[in-house]
Amino acid sequence: VIEPKVLTHLEEESSGAVSSPQSLTILFGSHSGNSEKIAQIARKEAQRLGLEAKVRNMEDYNPRSLKDEEQLLVIVSTHGEGEPPLAAQELYEKLKSGRGFSAENIRYSVIALGDSTYKHFCKTGHDFFEFLKKLGASPLRDVVELDTDFNTRLSGLIPEVVGQFATVNAAQSAQSSRPAAAKDVEVDIQDGPVEVEIIEKIQLNGRGADKETWHIELVAEHPALKYQPGDAIEVFTENDPSLVAAVLDTVGLDGRELVDIDGARMSLKEALQYHSELTVLTAPVVKKYSTFLQNETFNRLLEDPEQLSAFLAGTDVLDLLQKYPAELKAVDLVSTLRRLAPRAYSIASSPEEVGNEIHITVGAVRYEKEGRRRNGVCSTFLADRVDVGQRLKVKIRSNNQFRLPEDDNTSVIMVGAGTGIAPYRGFLQQRAALGHKGRNWLIFGDRHFTTDFLYQTEWLKYRNSGLLTRLDVAFSRDQEQKIYVQHKMKQNAGELYKWISEGGRFYVCGDMKTMAVDVRNTFLSILQSEGGMSPEESLEYFNKMRKERRYQEDVY
Ligand code: 2AM
Repeated sequence: VIEPKVLTHLEEESSGAVSSPQSLTILFGSHSGNSEKIAQIARKEAQRLGLEAKVRNMEDYNPRSLKDEEQLLVIVSTHGEGEPPLAAQELYEKLKSGRGFSAENIRYSVIALGDSTYKHFCKTGHDFFEFLKKLGASPLRDVVELDTDFNTRLSGLIPEVVGQFATVNAAQSAQSSRPAAAKDVEVDIQDGPVEVEIIEKIQLNGRGADKETWHIELVAEHPALKYQPGDAIEVFTENDPSLVAAVLDTVGLDGRELVDIDGARMSLKEALQYHSELTVLTAPVVKKYSTFLQNETFNRLLEDPEQLSAFLAGTDVLDLLQKYPAELKAVDLVSTLRRLAPRAYSIASSPEEVGNEIHITVGAVRYEKEGRRRNGVCSTFLADRVDVGQRLKVKIRSNNQFRLPEDDNTSVIMVGAGTGIAPYRGFLQQRAALGHKGRNWLIFGDRHFTTDFLYQTEWLKYRNSGLLTRLDVAFSRDQEQKIYVQHKMKQNAGELYKWISEGGRFYVCGDMKTMAVDVRNTFLSILQSEGGMSPEESLEYFNKMRKERRYQEDVY
């Protein structure tokens, strides 16, 4: 490792003028903490290369400081419908407006985190890239896009990205004496999964339901499994063997071909079953796949974003292979596919109530398309292929964006649709166990009262004990006209506004982005009708609430 001193010396030799080490500001905007962890890894690498590196959180970064920066590495994630994380929002808006800031002397790169199953993959990173460019900064490279399997790429990527900052005027001459970077980077983000045992598995829906929701209890004693209500758990999943067989059949490979996954040799069949994403198809995968094809129709599809996203919806790898057959070797197939990512579920329990157990609520995803049954990879793995007594690999994903108030006396309004009810079970267990005094109001929505009132007896128990001050339910399909959670909000607008104006907190959790948007709009309209605010004032009030963490969302 070269000491900063030595590098400076080399700089002086090569450029003749530089006296102080180059600086690098690493600016992160994090939601779940991944951007921050990557920022810390990048800082270590930068220091190793002799850069004067500092890490800054977008949440408290003043854009006026841009004029003092020389080099900037932006690391930011994207959420929901292409939105920045809450902590990045203010800076995002300011840079977007572009007024009053200059970034002319800055060399920069952007690492964008995202999930390529979403349409607006890495949008926030691309936006920051453009904002900075407009402000006069000079990019060192295109936006680096990281997908949910980013862990596997970091050890190669960070030295490459950070190395570019060091090479600009310093390190050409140091090249030969620089240590091989990739191996040396300490990627401590990869704390591995932990094994848990399944101790309970219950179907929550009643007989004759058109939905299938499972309550699953897991247990293990392990420090890495500490959690708080509001956190999620990542479940490491496997593909359905029959889907793997169909894929092999379609490409005409027998599965015994050897391939390499992160340095481990294994059969193609094993790679497909345990390591490759088969049930969701993403734009980057389809683009990679196109290099094995000479098909005009397919290429036109790729160039039209609207057509492409329509094609991707509900389409899986098997569809792609069948519709657009290509001559593929085993390695081609594996390198085209995304790495199979664990699936996250909001935790439905509180350790104060259940100790070492972790409860989750899982909606089995099943649908039919073009005459073939399709299954969500993890939800049906849990529903169909594991049982009580078996083990799963999991990891806690902490979520500081969805937390009970620090003050026990604060009232909370909890809105949840479908499996979005899960975290509130944890919240109420926690508040019951710790004797919190704040009032609790639950607004729950699902399809039918008789089959889909998830955890009904528990809510009734809490209502009888007085812990649950209010319980409102919206069963959408029990009558002709849909009744949704936001209708219940509207019906109780006066009371809801009262809770909020007295300092109450508002939570939204659900598996639909449409729901979160509708709830948000209803919330704004209640601020207007009950609080006498103008649309602008209501938005301002809402944004202030978000900033103060009084309006929290857990939407997926
Ligand atoms: P639906 O499927 O009958 O339309 C959980 O899935 C519940 O959320 C269901 O009752 C579902 O109703 C409902 N839901 C669907 N879209 C919604 C929206 N935009 N806002 C609120 N609830 C919604």
